[in-house]
Amino acid sequence: MDNQIKNIPKVELHSHLEGTISPPLVRRIAKRNSITLKDGLFTDEDKFAWEDFVGFLNAYDEASFCLRKSIDYEDITYEYFKSCALEGVIYAETFISPDHADAVGISYQEMILGCAKGIERVEKEFDIVARLIISCVRHLGPEKAIEVAKLMTDNPHKYVVGFGMGGNEYMYTMNDFSPAYNIAVNAGYPCTTHAGEVCGPESVWDAINCLPVSRIGHGVRSVEDRELLTELANRNIALEICPGSNLALNVYPNWESHPLNEILGSGISVSLNSDDPAFFDTTVGKEYLNGSKFFNLSTKELCNISAMAIKASFVDKKTKSRLLSKIPQ
Ligand code: ADE
Ligand code: ZN
Repeated sequence: MDNQIKNIPKVELHSHLEGTISPPLVRRIAKRNSITLKDGLFTDEDKFAWEDFVGFLNAYDEASFCLRKSIDYEDITYEYFKSCALEGVIYAETFISPDHADAVGISYQEMILGCAKGIERVEKEFDIVARLIISCVRHLGPEKAIEVAKLMTDNPHKYVVGFGMGGNEYMYTMNDFSPAYNIAVNAGYPCTTHAGEVCGPESVWDAINCLPVSRIGHGVRSVEDRELLTELANRNIALEICPGSNLALNVYPNWESHPLNEILGSGISVSLNSDDPAFFDTTVGKEYLNGSKFFNLSTKELCNISAMAIKASFVDKKTKSRLLSKIPQ
């Protein structure tokens, strides 16, 4: 990595833990758990095989299927945050899905215990602060989302700092999930949701009108509605932008058409993220590098993105100010 970019203190607010497991790690964990993975999960080049958004979500479910024990969560948490730390990330929070754990018989408590052990190890060995966001899965519906929110609020943990939602944006409405989000926010958890990724600006309006969110996962398609950009800036709702993911999923055909610079120019708080690094052939370090290469962002502008990300993060205030002091301004 270019030295100047390498030295920028980086921040990642949007990744999915289950989407960080590389094919070799999936195979290693599957082997020790005596799990037979589905044929066709990998390509000949040893990447995950998928073609479109729904195909990606299916491959993601299949990869998660290798996780069977608390130690599996510990290992993937450690490996992911370690890879972040080695790229200069000072703070990262990752989405973790209790529904994926439940599907293979792992309890919420076991899952969190594994992740917490991974975080403890990585924070001891590297200069990184790591936290978890509990994520419900949109296509599993509002009732499941309520269960997930309750699991989170009934089992507080010092590393769990927020609530979110991923999954298929075409299914259900945002308002269907307001009961789950209200459970989270009433218990003091800040919230985010995926919107404006595969669906248009109306999905972002729905999110900010129906759910108590201070951030939006992606939200890039807000650029199609000037009034919405103004609203996001005025309400200080931050966008967790993942350019590499957007290109991989064909939300935009190339770097030139990606609206990162237009969004930045609208005064909206932005972070740069990898989303599902193992699926989209990216890392947060590559996203910063591409910020310089394809969006012409200077070191100062990239540092400013890191600072915006810390301010929008869900970590406690004291840690926030400590982390902010590490970013050159
Ligand atoms: N779950 C994991 N990655 C996702 C993405 N990019 N969009 C929606 N749901 C997801
Ligand atoms: Zn995502």
